[in-house]
Amino acid sequence: MDFALALDSHSPVPYYQQIYEALRQAILAGRLSAQQRLPSTRALASSLGVSRATVTQSYDQLLSEGYLQTVVGSGTYVCDQLPDDLLHTPGLEVASALPSPPVSLSVYGRRLVDFADRPTPEPDAPISFRYGRPALDQFPLALWRQLLSRHCRQGDWLDYATDPMGYWPLRCAIAAHLSQARAVHCQPDHILITNGTQQALDLATRVLVSAGDAIALEEPSYLSARSVFTSQGAILHPVPVDESGLNVDALTQLTAPIRLVYVTPSHQFPTGAVLSLPRRLALLAWAQQRGSLIFEDDYDSEYRYTGRPIPALQGLGNGQSVLYVGTFSKVLFPSLRVGYMVLPSALVPVFRRAKWLSDRQVPGLEQAVLADFIAAGHLERHIRRMRSIYDQRRQALVTALTQHFGDRVTILGENAGLHVMVRFQTQIPDADLIAKAAQVGVGLISASPQYLGPSPGHEFIFSYTELDESAIVVGVKRLTALGL
Ligand SMILES: Cc1ncc(COP(=O)(O)O)c(C=O)c1O
Repeated sequence: MDFALALDSHSPVPYYQQIYEALRQAILAGRLSAQQRLPSTRALASSLGVSRATVTQSYDQLLSEGYLQTVVGSGTYVCDQLPDDLLHTPGLEVASALPSPPVSLSVYGRRLVDFADRPTPEPDAPISFRYGRPALDQFPLALWRQLLSRHCRQGDWLDYATDPMGYWPLRCAIAAHLSQARAVHCQPDHILITNGTQQALDLATRVLVSAGDAIALEEPSYLSARSVFTSQGAILHPVPVDESGLNVDALTQLTAPIRLVYVTPSHQFPTGAVLSLPRRLALLAWAQQRGSLIFEDDYDSEYRYTGRPIPALQGLGNGQSVLYVGTFSKVLFPSLRVGYMVLPSALVPVFRRAKWLSDRQVPGLEQAVLADFIAAGHLERHIRRMRSIYDQRRQALVTALTQHFGDRVTILGENAGLHVMVRFQTQIPDADLIAKAAQVGVGLISASPQYLGPSPGHEFIFSYTELDESAIVVGVKRLTALGL
């Protein structure tokens, strides 16, 4: 061999791997050329001062990866065609060095250019009331790991799913949970498992709304829903919200033919208002009369702290005007990316096709684990445990805000969900408040981006899920330095 092979006796990398790597690099760099014969394992072992088995192990690995070949009775040679040649497309480096031609985007692509990736920068303060995460440190990881490893041993989820609507045992488990906990009318065959609420929004808009069609939505509303609607060219009709939720009278006065109305009736996002029963009935009647569909985003309804749970809007009607949508992002963890839609029966076939074309299915392993998790009662137990933790945090927040700001603060939507909306009586602009809060180590999120029209300002979304009571108390106390 015309190159030196030196072994490092202090390295944690075993000798066989050092030899393997040195030979591989020599082949790739051309220091060992195609068809060149390698020394015998015995000769190389003795020149390196290692056992023959060590060298054999390195050669075997290079043989199995296609760098070397043996010729019976003659020896071991470098292959003509290296595996790396088969993996790398020639000319890629040259192509990427060329100036890129002007790319012409679709209408959809052009609309996306104007969107910010994450509209509200996440506060990176030591005490952040940022919205959107459950208490991830409370997640029963050991239990999840057990279920995961059981399914990993079985491997029955490796193939494409037979039905893009989702894993049948998971759909059965969700149907049982929803009928019991949310009084939703549902059969497992009406359930579509999605990659979170976000995919449900995307699919619903693509299937039901054409560019130029009208969508009504709460004002303020969930920005990520609004972004999906506008990205697909819908015309938005904001409808005001008060302490009883969406103003259904204002909705009925819209003259445009509304294809879809997006609502969060259990805990309006972000104001926290609960849609009253008379308004629920009026909304359902309006949708039925007008042939419109309701997108019911029931994103955090699992958590209610006082009063009786309010049944889902979908359960009050015949199930044909409402697309009921839920997610495991808040009750379990957001990167799971599992949500579900309960579809009116007539829409099942078209959504099945849309899901198949979009991404085939939600990953099978996660669905199988989640199905077991729910069926074994762990979901309900986890919700019960978290409800008590969140309740204490919520009370700590409400008490601290009231104690420090008295009647200069209005707290909305505190009876349910994972956040409250806080309205401060102040003239200080939101941006200044956020900057001043950051200076005292507190992260605040303004509710203004959730408004389509001008926002009244001085409204903040306070989530209490990620902070324990003492951090909440300290965080609110620090806000007194803001001059509110
Ligand atoms: C109103 C609303 N709906 C749904 C979601 C959850 O979305 P996903 O299931 O895509 O994580 C959120 C999360 O922040 C939300 O605020």
